[in-house]
Amino acid sequence: MAIAESQTRPETTSASGSQHDDELPAYAATLTAYHRAFANELRDLVDRLPVHPGDRVLDLACGDGVYSRWLAERAGPQGKVLAVDLSPAFLDLARREVEEGDVADRVTFAQGDLRHLPIPDDGFDLVWCAQSLYSLPDPVEALRRMERAARPGGVVAVFENDELHHVLMPWPVEVELALRGAELTALSQLSKKPQKFYVGRHLGTVFRAAGLAACQHRTWTIDRQAPLGPDDRAYFAGYLADLRAKATPHLASSPEIRDEFLRLGDPDSPGYLLDNPDFTVTCLNHLAWSTKPVG
Ligand SMILES: C[S@@+](CC[C@H](N)C(=O)[O-])C[C@H]1O[C@@H](n2cnc3c(N)ncnc32)[C@H](O)[C@@H]1O
Repeated sequence: MAIAESQTRPETTSASGSQHDDELPAYAATLTAYHRAFANELRDLVDRLPVHPGDRVLDLACGDGVYSRWLAERAGPQGKVLAVDLSPAFLDLARREVEEGDVADRVTFAQGDLRHLPIPDDGFDLVWCAQSLYSLPDPVEALRRMERAARPGGVVAVFENDELHHVLMPWPVEVELALRGAELTALSQLSKKPQKFYVGRHLGTVFRAAGLAACQHRTWTIDRQAPLGPDDRAYFAGYLADLRAKATPHLASSPEIRDEFLRLGDPDSPGYLLDNPDFTVTCLNHLAWSTKPVG
């Protein structure tokens, strides 16, 4: 989600992560919708990662396990994937996802906070983390953990997005600018570190701070246009619903902008963007990777 996913992901508040223990977070449905809507593009991304038969892969903050499954398929029958997450509820989903892919014997799950789990150092050919950096307590700390887990010559890769500029909708630029200001205000009220919500554009700096200086960075764009399929529609409807909830309260001083946003972003409006036959949208994601130096 990101993720891309639109609903704000909670920050971990304690080492035990008790807020996650029993149930999936509110954003889980949007994350699933995201994976369904963009499965082809995300699978294509995973197919380009440097995974070879027999490789050991760490999927850090694996969530619903969709990447664990795809990575295990890539690593082949001799490969191994360690899928780590704080949330038992997400790990239950991940186990089911992996079993569907018939790769259960290649995937091991570990539940806990990545800061405390005994993940082996120098143990993995690829260390992967998708759309989780702003769920995790600290992005640099997470990257340091990833760097330690990679073997010398192994690859550390992060797939991430900037919450504020992830989904580019075809509304007027005045609406876009006001909306993003309102969204940032909402995020700043939710988090002491709102800069985490646009970590995607800073991945090079985060990698360097974690000791991975030679970071490659590219955007991974996904385009859609009308007519939308049901999975696409479900994802973008969820995105707009979340944006309405976050931004609308902070648009009170710009009633014309707020009304135009609601005309375009409310499913009960005759102007709802997702019903427009000319609708187009672009999702911007960031992929950054680096090879752990040998010696
Ligand atoms: C937005 S989800 C992304 C999941 C998955 N990588 C994906 O792309 O679908 C963020 C994940 O980070 C996990 N998480 C949050 N804090 C964590 C921590 N301290 N240690 C391990 N996992 C954590 C959450 O439980 C959740 O599964």
